Amino acid sequence: MRLFTKTLILLVAAVVCGCGDAEIDEDLPPSGETEEQEKPFSSSYDEQYRPQIHYTPAKNWINDPNGLVYADGVYHLFYQYNPRGKDWGNMSWGHAVSPDLLHWEEQPVALIADHLGAIFSGSAVVDKDNTAGFGRNAIVALYTSAGASQQQSIAYSLDGAKSFKTYEGNPVVPNTVKTDFRDPKVFWHSESESWVMALALGWSYGIEILTSKNLKNWTSQSVFTSDLSSCRNGQWECPDLLRYECDGEEKWVMLVSVNPGGPVSGSGTMYFVGDFDGKKFVADDMTYPLWLDYGTDNYAGVTWSNVPDRTIYIGWMNNWLYAGVVPAHPWRSAMTLPREIDLKKIDGKYMLTSKVIREIETIAGEWEDVEDGMFGERMFGVRDSYQLRLEVDMTTEASYLLSNSKGEYLEFTVNPKTRMIVAKRTQKTGKAEFSPSYPLSSLKMPVPGDEAVVGLDLFVDKSSVEMILSDGSSAMTMLVFPKEIYNGIHCTGADLNGKVRTLSSVWK
Ligand code: FRU
Repeated sequence: MRLFTKTLILLVAAVVCGCGDAEIDEDLPPSGETEEQEKPFSSSYDEQYRPQIHYTPAKNWINDPNGLVYADGVYHLFYQYNPRGKDWGNMSWGHAVSPDLLHWEEQPVALIADHLGAIFSGSAVVDKDNTAGFGRNAIVALYTSAGASQQQSIAYSLDGAKSFKTYEGNPVVPNTVKTDFRDPKVFWHSESESWVMALALGWSYGIEILTSKNLKNWTSQSVFTSDLSSCRNGQWECPDLLRYECDGEEKWVMLVSVNPGGPVSGSGTMYFVGDFDGKKFVADDMTYPLWLDYGTDNYAGVTWSNVPDRTIYIGWMNNWLYAGVVPAHPWRSAMTLPREIDLKKIDGKYMLTSKVIREIETIAGEWEDVEDGMFGERMFGVRDSYQLRLEVDMTTEASYLLSNSKGEYLEFTVNPKTRMIVAKRTQKTGKAEFSPSYPLSSLKMPVPGDEAVVGLDLFVDKSSVEMILSDGSSAMTMLVFPKEIYNGIHCTGADLNGKVRTLSSVWK
């Protein structure tokens, strides 16, 4: 009962202020300098439900990915982190590094609360031309200082993100008026030779665009919004503005995370396709919202900066509806698999596609054909995850059970009339009683196009299933908590056609 009350308080705080004005912990030092931070706690990474191919911290709470930046051959993943426990609070930037987006090494906490407030979400850039004057190639983190109000601050690193110094002129974007004003995502716009910041306006349903020549002085340029009520079911958070070349035309995509009001319930990420002139984003006339992911558990995702040849995205694999009570110990929450997201024209319309990053090949075993029944016993080590690729006949009603030897299963069905793949996350899926919002009888993923047979990839880990159409045109991410990893597949109504390969644990 006490846990329930605490959770309720946590969730109310999260929903009301997403996540609201954080209290500043009295014990925390007055600056964001981190040289004396402790080494991360270590874990065997084999606890129940511990993801094997996804990033989780050794212990404690995480939410949004932050400060995604690629520098000197290293991918940096910062994230909302509570260094002191498994509930949301004491918001700081945790940090992990990876050479390949799969094998992560947790680092000391990068940024902790200071006199301006807790450290909420934001981004990081490499300042190649030393526009800020901190030094050539400084890594500059831009984040929300969440104190009495939400304002934007910066910190910089001259040692490859091993340590950060907060800028003495903070906040660089002051605010005492707006209630929601957070999650700065910054990129360099070469035509206007300016930095561009996208900032979320929460319950005002807007994304404000600001520009700067030096990362320190910012000018507000415009606010993007949508009048559609379907885009206004929740607060707008964690934007990202992406540039694409599609069929010879330049197009821009605005990612906006909404909470609640996602595609199923609770959190989700919508996107708008349009044009951007360096100051203003204008969305094309399309049917919105468009969803990046049709599942319940992919939120607050943004992309890495400074990656030359592709757009790499990662999301927080959870949902504010039940994030505070998901069963995991001693950590709480994981990131999605990193995905390459691209803009394509499908059925004559622009659409974002998602594909798991190509580096996945480095942990993949040989493909083996799959037959109806349990495939796990013969081919998997206990710590491995896997990818199952099914050829799904969209013309026939069929039901698939992804199951384990404990009698637990995730069912998904094919609905040829609506061209949907529909998953059912129920009490049969595994642990489900921790929140009434968690079981869902109908998670719908549309299958664009008109092909009779489509490839469906399932990336299965100990507490998640990411279903992605092989052409990337739809994705559905779901948390599941089976007693053991699902390791069998059973199909009724159609012939089972597919193959499977192991994905070796990245924590071995
Ligand atoms: C999104 C969010 C952000 C905020 C952060 C606080 O999940 O609410 O808007 O910066 O989480 O942890």
